[in-house]
Amino acid sequence: MAFITALPSLKGGVGRTTLVANLVSLLVQRGRHAVAVDFDPQNGLYHHFAIEPGMVPSVCDLGWSPPRTATALGRVSEAPCVPFGFRDRRQAETLLAERPEWLKQRLKELLPAHCDVVVVDTPAYPSLWTRRALQLADLVVGVITPDPAAFASLPASEAFFDEISFERMSGAETQWLVNRFDGTSSLAHDVLAAIRGALGQRVLPNIVHEDRALGEALARRQCLVDGSGDSQVLADLGVVADWILARSARKNNAPTNTRVSTKL
Ligand SMILES: Nc1ncnc2c1ncn2[C@@H]1O[C@H](COP(=O)(O)OP(=O)(O)O)[C@@H](O)[C@H]1O
Ligand SMILES: [Mg+2]
Repeated sequence: MAFITALPSLKGGVGRTTLVANLVSLLVQRGRHAVAVDFDPQNGLYHHFAIEPGMVPSVCDLGWSPPRTATALGRVSEAPCVPFGFRDRRQAETLLAERPEWLKQRLKELLPAHCDVVVVDTPAYPSLWTRRALQLADLVVGVITPDPAAFASLPASEAFFDEISFERMSGAETQWLVNRFDGTSSLAHDVLAAIRGALGQRVLPNIVHEDRALGEALARRQCLVDGSGDSQVLADLGVVADWILARSARKNNAPTNTRVSTKL
């Protein structure tokens, strides 16, 4: 099974979907068979890619089969994004609730055989989609913005992650990532210092800067890497993408008998 990274948060609007899409694009640029998977009923992830949900398999389109026109987009299995979809959402949510192992099976059905890295988008907690996604994940990267409201939500977020960590595979790791750092704001500097003080080594030392180019890329149905030029935020995201790759290599090199079964 591919190495699964999930990007959850308790608060909405912190940039989870944007980060998932742009990290996967960078991983693909690095030659990896990476796929972004949307477990959020807002169904927003595919907007970052030049695909339409009906053209590719989606999480909630349970009876999906490729339309004739899919070949016009190239091989369907090469799409870097699995949208949430919506057609069979009720049925999917019943399966999600009644069969804890369903989401893992569904991922196996949806992902191309050669896929080696998956980054999943999740709804703001509380949501069963998030809970199940975190149970599956090899790596959990909590997303936080350097603002007072997000900082205030940190204890509740940590309590949620702790709760889920008992349900996850042994060896799964949780880290925090600060997104949307505006270096010109003294408040952002103060809150970043407070976040680092509270989380210590649980927060990644590198941050992702605020850059409206991310929103502009979305308006073009693109990720940043599809555009031209270098930028601070692209470099920031590249560091995170490389860190995910290093973590996935560590898992692949680990002795296989150190894992215990999950309570999914
Ligand atoms: N690093 C960033 N710099 C500037 N804008 C950002 C950044 N990350 C996300 N955004 C913007 O923040 C808004 C919310 O992002 P989104 O990914 O939808 O958040 P979430 O999935 O957590 O709800 C979007 O308008 C997006 O373009
Ligand atoms: Mg989102």
